[in-house]
Amino acid sequence: MGIPATIDLNNLPQHVAIIMDGNGRWAKEKGKLRVFGHQNGVLAVRDTVEGAVELGIPYLTLYAFSTENWNRPKHEVNALMELLVSTITKETKTLMENGVRLNTIGDLNSLPKSCDRQLREAMEKTKDNKRCTLTLALSYSSRWEITEAVKSIAASVKAGDLNPEEINENLFADRLNTAGLPDPELMIRTSGELRISNFLLWQLAYTELFFTPKLWPDFRRTDLFDAVLDYQKRERRFGMTSEQVK
Ligand code: FPP
Repeated sequence: MGIPATIDLNNLPQHVAIIMDGNGRWAKEKGKLRVFGHQNGVLAVRDTVEGAVELGIPYLTLYAFSTENWNRPKHEVNALMELLVSTITKETKTLMENGVRLNTIGDLNSLPKSCDRQLREAMEKTKDNKRCTLTLALSYSSRWEITEAVKSIAASVKAGDLNPEEINENLFADRLNTAGLPDPELMIRTSGELRISNFLLWQLAYTELFFTPKLWPDFRRTDLFDAVLDYQKRERRFGMTSEQVK
């Protein structure tokens, strides 16, 4: 099964961001441990990345581990970190075959050393790939990111390198972890939760939001295609009137 003919390939969102949610509930429904849900979540990640490449979406961002996730039971945090390292190691070849460049946002320094090293190696290996940039948000929270940007701007002002009058939206965006990435045009959240949960608060200002009850381990490229179809039915007005947009 390929791309649905109803998708307009000339009107694709250039950047899709996803809050992958519901791994724990998926496992619980099956009478299994939460980690089983995360393991199956990896299959959903693989199919979604391949679907994005197949469709021609140049930027895909996945919320893989939030700053708040550090508060989970230690064994779950450890299992998630191990899963991340083993997945990155195993999948680097597939990323190369699909022309995917790996990128990260978040506080990489707070990750275990082995995880940080594997990620940096995979980013280095895939850095020249051009078809899709896959950004993993790891130890990421938007308020943390915004606070860091403010600190960096304040330091530039204090050093005399920046005049406060020069601070504008573009300069601010350039100090965020996402500098160089376009803002997402479509954000998908799985598992029926209707929240943003500290994800890309600045970048989602005009993003179309798509919520699905599907739990993340059940999400497949066909669900990505459905979300894109829904996105293409919407009118994006950016504060203007419908007539102005037309
Ligand atoms: C949310 O489900 C999911 C996570 C916190 C982790 C996401 C991680 C993966 C899908 C696996 C590894 C990812 C990559 C990129 C290799 P939850 O645990 O909050 O589920 P619940 O809300 O049902 O408890």
